[in-house]
Amino acid sequence: MQIGPHSLPNRLFVAPMAGVTDRPFRQLCRRLGAGYAVSEMVTSRKELWGSLKTSRRADHSGEPGPIAVQIAGTDAAMMAEAAAYNIDRGAQIIDINMGCPAKKVCNKWAGSALMRNEALALEIVEAVVAVCAPCGVPVTLKMRTGWSADERNALRLARLFESAGIAMLTIHGRTREQGYKGLAEYDTIAAVKTALTIPVVANGDIDSPEKARDVLAYTGADALMIGRAAQGRPWIFREVAHFLATGEHLAAPSVIEARDVLTEHLHDHYGLYGELSGVRSARKHIGWAVRGLPGGEAFRQHMNTLERCDLQLQALRDWFDELGQTHDRLPPAEAANDDDEVQAQEACAA
Ligand SMILES: Cc1cc2nc3c(=O)[nH]c(=O)nc-3n(C[C@H](O)[C@H](O)[C@H](O)COP(=O)(O)O)c2cc1C
Repeated sequence: MQIGPHSLPNRLFVAPMAGVTDRPFRQLCRRLGAGYAVSEMVTSRKELWGSLKTSRRADHSGEPGPIAVQIAGTDAAMMAEAAAYNIDRGAQIIDINMGCPAKKVCNKWAGSALMRNEALALEIVEAVVAVCAPCGVPVTLKMRTGWSADERNALRLARLFESAGIAMLTIHGRTREQGYKGLAEYDTIAAVKTALTIPVVANGDIDSPEKARDVLAYTGADALMIGRAAQGRPWIFREVAHFLATGEHLAAPSVIEARDVLTEHLHDHYGLYGELSGVRSARKHIGWAVRGLPGGEAFRQHMNTLERCDLQLQALRDWFDELGQTHDRLPPAEAANDDDEVQAQEACAA
């Protein structure tokens, strides 16, 4: 798998998720089998570049390359400037966001709303490519299948974007209108893959090794991108990789390994956000990790009352140790993506 000059170790990618795929989470997923990770979206609005949020989002210290930064905005010149700014700060790949459905982003004609204005979308792509190409930085793009079921223009846009110099295209198999509801469809992704020569990445609802195999086979995509299913389950990447390579299931992680992986993630997380902010933003990661496990909900509620990193870490350790007394390996968890809409709206709008 290749993006411009960059070779990737495999074709399993972590999806960019604002508020989730910060540097600690990306590194965690990479350690556990993801071949590539795009950063959370960074705004093209210059006045926000100095903010704490943007500087944390742009933190790539110690991260293995290629460093891919996603930018979002509505103005071609500003997007080009944002690309140049991020290249100066180490970005090796620039990804354009045309997939986020959040209202705050869409009202400003950013994210997936851009798919409705094809001329502007193309203008943005051309402006960003014009800045990146001389630096040898590939430009990639992530979009949905269209605005709505009646306006499914991903194929037309994909052709335009390829001609404009996009090096890789990711498609989330939903329209903007769907938000995160309904099911992802893969026919549009398959049609785009057939029409293009650049790598195409399939995204949407891939939550198991079997689903990964089926989506790869159905779409013919060059790579897969996994988002929500990696929340609290970052080992999904090695599980999928193993299944694709051997046709056999890798055993679930031991309870002890899950505990240690999460503990390490939290240390890294506190390091980026500090105690006050870190203990709060870590709650969602812990909540996802225990979601659907026996006693997980009660633990999540208790953990939300803890305001110090050391107490949070200890509670987590105790909870997993207790689970380890009845289970060697992590028991299967029920999937629960019911808050995705809210979560994504909040995260992307921020
Ligand atoms: C909390 C959250 C934040 C997201 N933030 C972004 C983002 O910043 N940029 C982007 O292109 N997509 C974003 N997405 C969309 C995901 O990258 C992905 O396309 C979507 O979740 C579908 O994949 P999945 O079914 O594997 O989760 C976000 C999704 C969620 C749930």
